[in-house]
Amino acid sequence: MIREILRMGDPRLLQIAKPVLKFNTPELRALLVDLFDTMHAADGAGLAAPQIGVSLRVVIFGYADLNARNPRFPDAPAVPETVLINPVLEPLGDELEDGWEGCLSVPGLRGMVPRDARLRYTGFDAEGEPIDRTVDGFHARVVQHECDHLDGVLYPMRIRDFTRFGYTDVLFPGILATDD
Ligand code: NI
Repeated sequence: MIREILRMGDPRLLQIAKPVLKFNTPELRALLVDLFDTMHAADGAGLAAPQIGVSLRVVIFGYADLNARNPRFPDAPAVPETVLINPVLEPLGDELEDGWEGCLSVPGLRGMVPRDARLRYTGFDAEGEPIDRTVDGFHARVVQHECDHLDGVLYPMRIRDFTRFGYTDVLFPGILATDD
């Protein structure tokens, strides 16, 4: 079911989400269906459970072929479709990388956000099987953005240079067709 996406200003987006304690439950399966339905309907690259008002440490992200399916990220490389539960992120090295970000909870805007260029993330998939990946680039950025939602952090809180924060259609006239 497509759910309403909370927008910045809603205090529920600022909460620290709770860990999932039980896998393979009907509730968890229903939550994941709703997250995917909502993300696909909004053409998002990722979505975190708190964005639909569920305060659990669950994020989804990725597309088998992001370029083809997601007009919001025309230049983004493909990221595998992933369910990540109770994630733990470990930066590898000190290198930060600047990149443009948007968020379905902050519609119409983009900002330049520094993120760890390379990281290892661990967690669990929908069945409770462990996930352990080392990633960089856009994949690393998406994971950091989505997992920030679990700690009540929205990307504007990470912006350092506010001269590179603005409305998508003004920043990128004619390039991105969709609003968000
Ligand atoms: Ni977001």
